[in-house]
Amino acid sequence: RTKLLLDCDPGLDDALALLLAHSDPDLELVAVTTVGGNVDLVSTTRNARVLREYLGFVDVPIAAGAAQPLVRDAENAAHVHGEAGLGTVRLPAATLPASDRHAVDVIIETLRAAPGEVHLVATGPLTNIALALAREPRVVEWAASFVIMGGSFTRGNATVAAEFNIYADPEAAAVVFAAGWQVVMIGLDLTLQAIVTPQVVDRMRHLGPLGVDLVVPLATFWVDPNDADWSGQAVHDVCAVAYIARPELFQSRPARVEVETQGHHTSGMTVVDFTSSAPNAIVPVELDVAGFWDYVHSAWQLTADG
Ligand code: BDR
Ligand code: CA
Repeated sequence: RTKLLLDCDPGLDDALALLLAHSDPDLELVAVTTVGGNVDLVSTTRNARVLREYLGFVDVPIAAGAAQPLVRDAENAAHVHGEAGLGTVRLPAATLPASDRHAVDVIIETLRAAPGEVHLVATGPLTNIALALAREPRVVEWAASFVIMGGSFTRGNATVAAEFNIYADPEAAAVVFAAGWQVVMIGLDLTLQAIVTPQVVDRMRHLGPLGVDLVVPLATFWVDPNDADWSGQAVHDVCAVAYIARPELFQSRPARVEVETQGHHTSGMTVVDFTSSAPNAIVPVELDVAGFWDYVHSAWQLTADG
């Protein structure tokens, strides 16, 4: 089984990414670390814990990390994910505690214990990853691969120029892209192909209680499926987990990515040069959309069937 550690800020689509990591029998979720992002750290950690018990991956440690970006004030996206971070979804309170270790220690120790075996996936601001690299640069060698949801090579969503995860902590993102490893940057240009269409919703409804109580409300929180002008909601973070399991669903190009930390209008922009002779990233550009939904649906079906 392919091992992964998910660093996340649940978050509607982070929750769906967790569901995928848990559901695919070819993936082994070895640890979850949380970061402040979509909502504050207390809420992202609580959300990870309630999902763990609801879905039943009770042996997987959850460790809380950075509450604040490296140097800036915290931004959040509660207007997108709801005040509690999971839209309208209310799950039973968690009884199992978070780990007493810090996320940064869990990242370092998990990768150190199995060099070359654990894929590191980040679907929130990159604060924890930057802190781990600062403390232990060999994380770069130990990670089997490093995949983020973040950035774009065209437009942003937090601002015209910047995608939310990079915008929230550009200094951390700059550290991460400069660390000497290959970053798989799954940006908005890719994730906006993974849209929850009315057809996708229909399929999810057939997942029974998992679909009706969790997947559909998470996947449709800020769009109205009955709206004639439905343009769908993207499941950004799910793409990052899918990439670990099914890289063949993605067409990718090497690129040099620099993070803008200074720009008045462009702070948090990922500047992507596909012509560079010194690439530091692989940038998926095209998704096999039908293959993606078939894969995701078949994995979720396994969890729905118990
Ligand atoms: C990213 O920002 C967050 O709001 C989502 O969870 C996703 O990780 C999309 O820009
Ligand atoms: Ca996220």
